[in-house]
Amino acid sequence: MRITIVGCGYVGMALARHWRQDPALRLTVTTTRKERRPQLAPLAERVEVLKAGDPSGLRRALEGAEAAVFCLAPTGDRLVSADDYGATYRDSFAALAQVIDELPELRQIVYTASCSVYGDAGGAWVDETTPASPLDDHGRVLLESEELLARCRAPGRRVCVLRLGAIHGPGRELGDRFRRLAGSTRPGDGRQHSSWIHRDDVVGAIAAAISGGWGGVVNLVDDEPLPVAALLDRVLTASGLEPVRWDPAAATGAPPADRRVSNRRLHQLGYRLRHPQLPIPHLKRIDQTLFDAVAAQAREAARRRRNHNLHQECDLVQRFLNVLQPGTYVRPHRHLREQAGSGFECFLVLQGAIGLLLLDEAGEVISRQRLEASGPLRGIELAEGQFHTLVALSPDAVMFELKQGPYQPSADKDFMTCFPAEGTPAAEKQEQRWRELFEEDAASGSAG
Ligand SMILES: NC(=O)c1ccc[n+]([C@@H]2O[C@H](COP(=O)([O-])OP(=O)(O)OC[C@H]3O[C@@H](n4cnc5c(N)ncnc54)[C@H](OP(=O)(O)O)[C@@H]3O)[C@@H](O)[C@H]2O)c1
Repeated sequence: MRITIVGCGYVGMALARHWRQDPALRLTVTTTRKERRPQLAPLAERVEVLKAGDPSGLRRALEGAEAAVFCLAPTGDRLVSADDYGATYRDSFAALAQVIDELPELRQIVYTASCSVYGDAGGAWVDETTPASPLDDHGRVLLESEELLARCRAPGRRVCVLRLGAIHGPGRELGDRFRRLAGSTRPGDGRQHSSWIHRDDVVGAIAAAISGGWGGVVNLVDDEPLPVAALLDRVLTASGLEPVRWDPAAATGAPPADRRVSNRRLHQLGYRLRHPQLPIPHLKRIDQTLFDAVAAQAREAARRRRNHNLHQECDLVQRFLNVLQPGTYVRPHRHLREQAGSGFECFLVLQGAIGLLLLDEAGEVISRQRLEASGPLRGIELAEGQFHTLVALSPDAVMFELKQGPYQPSADKDFMTCFPAEGTPAAEKQEQRWRELFEEDAASGSAG
């Protein structure tokens, strides 16, 4: 089979390398720059130097080809204008329409287009049946280009438009791409979804489109559209960099288009993605920024404490921060579980100081422990069934807790009803008494 790749950059070269392994394929590739000939020569039988907007050059490159792949894009570091887009995409497909009748052997054309032709859908899913409605001039040029290409469709000649998400892959890693945004403040809230596709899946899908004779529009995106804020947060956290802050008040103009691009048709065509999701580890940072944010919430809360869960309620292991302010009242309780031994609870103080009081069945304090982030005792694990309570001995006291899940609110705690309920004046007095015990310990230099 004879195939021409028009535009042999990042994707085109990977595709040529992929097809190079098939000796039955006879490949022609194009570049706009003759100095790239030595780089491309090992990848193809023929290298043509041309701008695809030139009909005679394009005819020469496509002569005898049974399939053509257009993966051209404006190159260079400069900001690419809508006019540059027109010169690259629209002029090239106008030239193709001019010469197509002189290329009787050409039975299949594949074009790597873009999802940016879809408009705003308020975060809803869009698929190939959703009318394209680009919001900017670049998108409008891309849509016109698709329409010009569609005119080359004919009996015995299929046209497949692959609408790609943003491409990532070797040399285009997300961490490098977003590094410069670390610690910056961006306008808006970043809730709009972005769609991505790995370079190897672009190559895989183009090859599948040619061998499977795909026609029409096919979205080429991975399985998981991600809100931009979540994407940046995950990428920067995984790289150990400062997160981006969002400023909705600074947003000007129309909000960015928000849609989730569906790849159902790609799956229906039988294509199996090699990279169904972005390769970003899910990391949750436990740092001072988090402590400060939860402590501020705890200060405002009527209960004077606030949990920040790292787990989902259904998880088998509950792990969370509990940030306490002096004055918070924890009604004495114990944890009992159906599965013997699984009612343990582990505390670790990460900031400030906490007083832990252990009680007997009658409610008498049998032991008190000062847990302090910078003290000799940092944490304690309680066995199942041990009645206990806690007081905050410093402002913004941060404790990490570990318990068996899943969390069942009605069964999690067995309260000692001889102590006042939360939110009552008696509870306030009780908390003060317990806190005073630790103050007396500190004054007398004893603990426990
Ligand atoms: N990058 C993305 O995130 C993204 C997103 C959606 C869709 N896409 C589409 O994916 C495709 C592949 O992108 P890529 O990243 O591989 O692009 P790329 O690395 O920039 O390569 C573009 C290629 O097109 C050639 N070219 C530029 N202008 C041309 C013209 N007028 N006529 C003929 N060839 C021309 C370039 O020539 P030289 O060899 O002279 O440089 C280069 O070989 C493109 O069609 C692009 O629109 C990309």
